[in-house]
Amino acid sequence: MCGIVGYIGPRDAYPIVIEGLKRLEYRGYDSAGIALYDGTDLKVAKTKGKVSELEKCVENEITKTGNLGIGHTRWATHGVPNDVNSHPHVSNSGDLVIIHNGIIENYESLKKELINRGYTFKSDTDTEVLINLIEEVKKKEKVKLGKAVQIALNQVVGAYAIAVFDKNKPEEVVVARLGSPLAVGIGEDEFFIASDASPFIEYTKNAIYLEDEEMAIIRFHKKIKVRKIKNDAEVPANIQELQLNLEQIEKGGYEHFMLKEIHEQPKAIVDTYRGRLLRDEAIIKMAGIEDNMKKFLNANRIIIVACGTSWHAGLVAEYIFEDLARIPVEVEYASEFRYRNPVITENDVLIAISQSGETADTLAAIKMAKSKGAFVFGVCNVVGSSIARESDAGAYTHAGPEIGVASTKAFTTQITVLSLIALRLARAKGTISSSDFRRYLLEMEMIPNKIEKALESDAHIRVVSDIYKDASNFLYLGRGYNFPVALEGALKLKEISYIHAEGYPAAEMKHGPIALIDENMPIVVIATRAEHYDKVVSNIQEIKSRKGKIIGVITEGDTIVRELADHVIEVPDTIEALSPLLTTIPLQLLSYHIAVMLNKNVDQPRNLAKSVTVE
Ligand code: F6R
Repeated sequence: MCGIVGYIGPRDAYPIVIEGLKRLEYRGYDSAGIALYDGTDLKVAKTKGKVSELEKCVENEITKTGNLGIGHTRWATHGVPNDVNSHPHVSNSGDLVIIHNGIIENYESLKKELINRGYTFKSDTDTEVLINLIEEVKKKEKVKLGKAVQIALNQVVGAYAIAVFDKNKPEEVVVARLGSPLAVGIGEDEFFIASDASPFIEYTKNAIYLEDEEMAIIRFHKKIKVRKIKNDAEVPANIQELQLNLEQIEKGGYEHFMLKEIHEQPKAIVDTYRGRLLRDEAIIKMAGIEDNMKKFLNANRIIIVACGTSWHAGLVAEYIFEDLARIPVEVEYASEFRYRNPVITENDVLIAISQSGETADTLAAIKMAKSKGAFVFGVCNVVGSSIARESDAGAYTHAGPEIGVASTKAFTTQITVLSLIALRLARAKGTISSSDFRRYLLEMEMIPNKIEKALESDAHIRVVSDIYKDASNFLYLGRGYNFPVALEGALKLKEISYIHAEGYPAAEMKHGPIALIDENMPIVVIATRAEHYDKVVSNIQEIKSRKGKIIGVITEGDTIVRELADHVIEVPDTIEALSPLLTTIPLQLLSYHIAVMLNKNVDQPRNLAKSVTVE
């Protein structure tokens, strides 16, 4: 939620900050703003809307010069998205300026105190309170900016990644983090600040990812100093080499990031199993599992926590873990789990799934489980993210950057990693025969080619999308391994096309949703050849006799559903446990095409943000 960018060095800050904000727009896009020190004074421009609006606003309002700048793209928490509530926020004296990603929970009491001391506020934001608190501390304690930030942050309850500077000391920027990510790129005599490394990858490969409760004082011509917010103690700066490259974060000829990411899935899955699935040796090797095998084998149960699409991947994992490794699994929404006083013991293994690795509820859930002695295993995409670091062990998904807000390749790579883990554990427990194990490895290796094949239905899916794009509601039905895929298909449609959609286990239809079915209701039924295929066929017949419009996702060559359904979309045959990796593809494309036809902003749907760092 919210993206922050900053630059201090010999170059012009404006283009770096603006381009950086565009790359971080996936984090929030309600409003945007920039503050530049132009050599003599502080200039601020901010506006409701996207970064493109900000560019227009800058043209009309301020000059673009200056070697120091900070910028912000917002996902509103406190205060509606409007010009005044947009960041940056300036202190009452006009000297200090801040950008902030996160929430200051005790801002109301702090605001009251500041009002009593004569401060006034223009916006409804918690951030304006923070910058004035810093100003008050700076004046009262007669300390430098860094110290004032440190003292002020110790009075704050909440989460933040901030960048602050003082127009009277334009050679210095102070940054800090607690609960929201913050990276500092280290160039030659220049520094970049950003919520993730994407805004500065063409300038430097060296970065420091601040840890929670750390701050840094960045001075032009000097070295960066990292300190603990709590006690001001200096900590060694841990400079890491970035693995990211520019190509990975560009659209590469596709109209939208989402479409690019859908098409990247074959490669992403290969990247995910490379070095882990060793078919010739008939083994699966995953360091995080090997090193902690006892924990998994002695576990009473596995608890999976996640949100949104990652939660759907968790549901798929529940089927495969129980089916193959015979370990009891519970899948929980992180937001419910963390607040419901669950029974957790030292023999529980908690798997946290998160693309961003920053989702606040998932992070809080793992902290809670750890405090109760559970072993925490993270399945994250973003390397070095908070959840990855907070976990006792983990496995990255290696999907590469996912920029479209609607998750696609993150989902299928999460399922890939979780399937590998389930297979590895099944082998260790002896709950799978060696011939079945080999069959799975072979099939997993064939999945990327089969996804390529599934993607060939794109033109046909576009035709189907055109027929149903104006529907007001959709139902998605699936059974077994494909029930979570039905949930995921419905979520994809909702979030990017704003059409109401619900996913249901196919057999549950007759316990309620069947009442919704009439000739205007499109129903996507995942009806691939599987154990309960006949039962799904019966469900299709029930829909048909109520005149519902059936879009069947079927196994290549299937004739039974083809005859019953209004439309079918074929996917290649595979082992049932791996079928979600294929059946998901047409549902992603269906939602994509409908959203494009409805002229929606596919990559940045309204009200959403890519990484939900607030609860
Ligand atoms: C849906 C979507 C969200 C995320 C959810 C969790 O397309 O992207 O539902 O899956 O916000 O995010 P992560 O996986 O980053 O924890």
